[in-house]
Amino acid sequence: MSLLSKLFGKAPDRAVEIESSGDHFNVPPGTTILERALAEGIAYPHDCTVGTCGSCRTRLISGKVEAITPFGYTLSREELEAGYILACQALPKSDLVLDVEIGSSADAQAVRQSATFFNASELTHDIRRVAIRVDKPINYRAGQYANVHWGDGSVHRSYSFADAPIAGGTTEPHFFIRHVPGGQFTDRLFGGSLPGEPLELDGPHGNFWLRDGKGPIICIAGGSGLAPLISLLQDAANRRVRRDCILLFGGRGERDLYAADAIAAIRSAWTASFDYWPVLSEETNPQYRSGFVTDYVPQALERLGPGAQGYMCGPPPMIDAGIHALTEAGIGLPDIHYDKFTDASTGA
Ligand SMILES: Cc1cc2nc3c(=O)[nH]c(=O)nc-3n(C[C@H](O)[C@H](O)[C@H](O)COP(=O)(O)OP(=O)(O)OC[C@H]3O[C@@H](n4cnc5c(N)ncnc54)[C@H](O)[C@@H]3O)c2cc1C
Ligand code: FES
Repeated sequence: MSLLSKLFGKAPDRAVEIESSGDHFNVPPGTTILERALAEGIAYPHDCTVGTCGSCRTRLISGKVEAITPFGYTLSREELEAGYILACQALPKSDLVLDVEIGSSADAQAVRQSATFFNASELTHDIRRVAIRVDKPINYRAGQYANVHWGDGSVHRSYSFADAPIAGGTTEPHFFIRHVPGGQFTDRLFGGSLPGEPLELDGPHGNFWLRDGKGPIICIAGGSGLAPLISLLQDAANRRVRRDCILLFGGRGERDLYAADAIAAIRSAWTASFDYWPVLSEETNPQYRSGFVTDYVPQALERLGPGAQGYMCGPPPMIDAGIHALTEAGIGLPDIHYDKFTDASTGA
């Protein structure tokens, strides 16, 4: 702290270093790490900016921060204990050294454009495959998501792309959308009021994609969380990624299982071993495993062998249980990637 700051009580700027990328910047008092990084033109991962999506998850290597809203709404106990913070909610209280994966300049920039609902088909009693049309082709990495805005455009909901990306992008992205009773957007979709309504789509967003590696892959999905995993696995199969994989899917009963054809196509194109383990939590059926999907993490990892990376998408409690099971089994947090499908009830 400078002598002037000490004398007049003005808090000093804090120096921030991102160890992995070598970026340096100063953060003035009252400014979050994310705000300052973006102002410096750094491709810091982010989306919601209000502490609910987890995109800006960052490991604090050294230094102190103050949280505007508690990180624990979004981060798991294991992440908090390992020093993870949310950059959009963190005010530096000392100089900081951070570890975060900064985006590459080759990544597609998010574009917001007008969109229309095109069609929807039933996948299960409460999940639909929905096509939305846009004018400009949208490019994304397998696993990413887009935000759909409606009404006056001030609110949005996030939906993960459900297909492998295609060269040149698509003007008709597909999403798997689950009905959340009482939900603002999905009540509209399932109530049939979306056709004809002007929408906007902005994306791509998110840092959920398949990392490089040679080790096996364990994928865990619940409900509509299968969408980004199908996209990721279809893309990996197209690219002839040669890594053993187990896809675990959790549903309450048999009626929650879907996308069997897409999973069978991935399995037949996969160049290493590929297993699909559906798990039912509320029905006993000799065809399927029963219990919670995350109960089968130890067994799957034993089958896959060491050096696995974990990929998960779905409801927040499933992700938290998955992080717990994967870390208990010895997988480090940097090898665990997920999108938590948070909704308006999460922070509340
Ligand atoms: C990165 C990301 C990717 C996602 N991808 C997908 C996807 O591919 N497919 C998918 O189906 N979903 C996905 N989601 C979830 C999706 O964005 C929506 O949150 C979900 O569809 C619900 O939206 P809604 O407007 O229908 O419900 P909301 O309006 O968000 O309401 C959800 C529930 O919360 C209740 N609620 C509202 N306000 C409060 C409050 N103050 N207190 C308590 N309860 C309240 C509502 O009654 C309702 O039951 C994703 C989310 C994220 C963050
Ligand atoms: S950008 Fe920080 S939690 Fe969403």
